[in-house]
Amino acid sequence: MIKLLQSYVISQMKVLLGLFILLFIIEMTLVIAGLNGLVPTDVYIASEIFIALLIAVTGSIIFYRYRKVKNLFVEMEEEELKMTALIQSMPDFVCFKDGEGRWIRTNDFGLELYELEENQYIGKTDRQLGELNPFFKDAFDYCATSDEETWQNAETVRCEESFYIPSGELKTFDVIKVPIFFKNGQRKALITIGRDISQQKIAEERLVRQEKLAVAGELAAGVAHEIKNPLTSLKGFVQLMREAPMLSNENIGVMSSEIDRIHSIVEELLVLSKPRTRLEESFSIHAAIEYVLNLMKHQAMDKDVTLHFEKAEAEFDLVLGDRNQLVQVIINLVKNGIEAMNEGGRLTIRSRNQKSFIEVSIEDKGTGISNVDLEQLGQPFFTTKPKGMGLGITICHKIIHEHRGQLTFRSELNKGTTVQIKLPLYKKEEFGT
Ligand SMILES: Nc1ncnc2c1ncn2[C@@H]1O[C@H](COP(=O)(O)OP(=O)(O)OP(=O)(O)O)[C@@H](O)[C@H]1O
Ligand SMILES: [Mg+2]
Repeated sequence: MIKLLQSYVISQMKVLLGLFILLFIIEMTLVIAGLNGLVPTDVYIASEIFIALLIAVTGSIIFYRYRKVKNLFVEMEEEELKMTALIQSMPDFVCFKDGEGRWIRTNDFGLELYELEENQYIGKTDRQLGELNPFFKDAFDYCATSDEETWQNAETVRCEESFYIPSGELKTFDVIKVPIFFKNGQRKALITIGRDISQQKIAEERLVRQEKLAVAGELAAGVAHEIKNPLTSLKGFVQLMREAPMLSNENIGVMSSEIDRIHSIVEELLVLSKPRTRLEESFSIHAAIEYVLNLMKHQAMDKDVTLHFEKAEAEFDLVLGDRNQLVQVIINLVKNGIEAMNEGGRLTIRSRNQKSFIEVSIEDKGTGISNVDLEQLGQPFFTTKPKGMGLGITICHKIIHEHRGQLTFRSELNKGTTVQIKLPLYKKEEFGT
């Protein structure tokens, strides 16, 4: 940038200097002509004075401009030095691009990361750099796509980007992208800062693995405990049958319900152990809610509970995932709400659009949950109900997590509970492409 400005200013100075030299030549010609008596004396004197004045004015302009420009360049170079020192001293990847996505500048971290050479990258877009260095083609292509999303969002975006480097290591960056616009709304520049969080990710994954093992242990203990009771009772009946082969209908009924209990525990556990959801189907979350409300209205009526749905005004309600699993989540949460309203009342489901998310809240006016119980919510087999299994919320957490959403609970004892589900909206619809 400075170099461009410098060459522009130098060319201007050259024009001024050319003018100065031209005047000097005219002056010399006049002097010679005057000395040889070729020009009348009064014309000669007048021209001499005029040209001398012009030479003085041009000379002062050149001198003044030279001083001003010199100071300006000194200041600019100082700024440039400060900027270079700043971005080089950062332990992060820093990159400046223009409004067309062309690289203007990066730091040594960036050069080393993408194996670029100084000056080789300047003026090139991500896609061109991907052609230049095919190993990083996918990474550059992804970067171009996420830049475009940042421009569309028109605000600072934070995301994670992962890619392999030639050593075979998977690098993960916590990336901040800042788009800058001209006053007329045109794209001006994009600043990208990426912090290498690869080590942190590895540590997190290790922790999750350990946690999973711990949860598996807890789950196994819970299952053993839950299944042990009906099994003990069944064993008692078998013992009884040995002594008196004919069992009463009542006893057979108890045996059957104990077997049912074991069956439903196993069924619920199967949902938990199912592999990760393949996010492939887009469906209307509003339609799924309406389906559940229709399904549960009789159960609600039995407890004098009325179900209400306050739908978001915005029409975007498509989410990507497994419809049946999300229906299961809504059923579990509405069922909990109904079960908590011993005196009947109103259960309200609301939906609200929030940029790229949709929020669905389920609000009941039931017993509420104590702070102690709130902390245990979601743990397998945590229940306060005589016939509950304590798997409903565990399953909800798993499903919502797999749909890249969030599940939160707010509750006040004797006032009620609000469960909030936050799910990402189906992006293609969001950008209307
Ligand atoms: N809306 C609610 N209001 C009050 N308590 C709730 C609510 N939702 C959940 N709880 C509490 O959390 C516990 C766990 O709920 P969860 O749905 O996981 O299991 P459950 O309802 O007891 O049994 P199930 O596995 O059959 O659903 C419940 O027993 C209840 O104490
Ligand atoms: Mg439940």
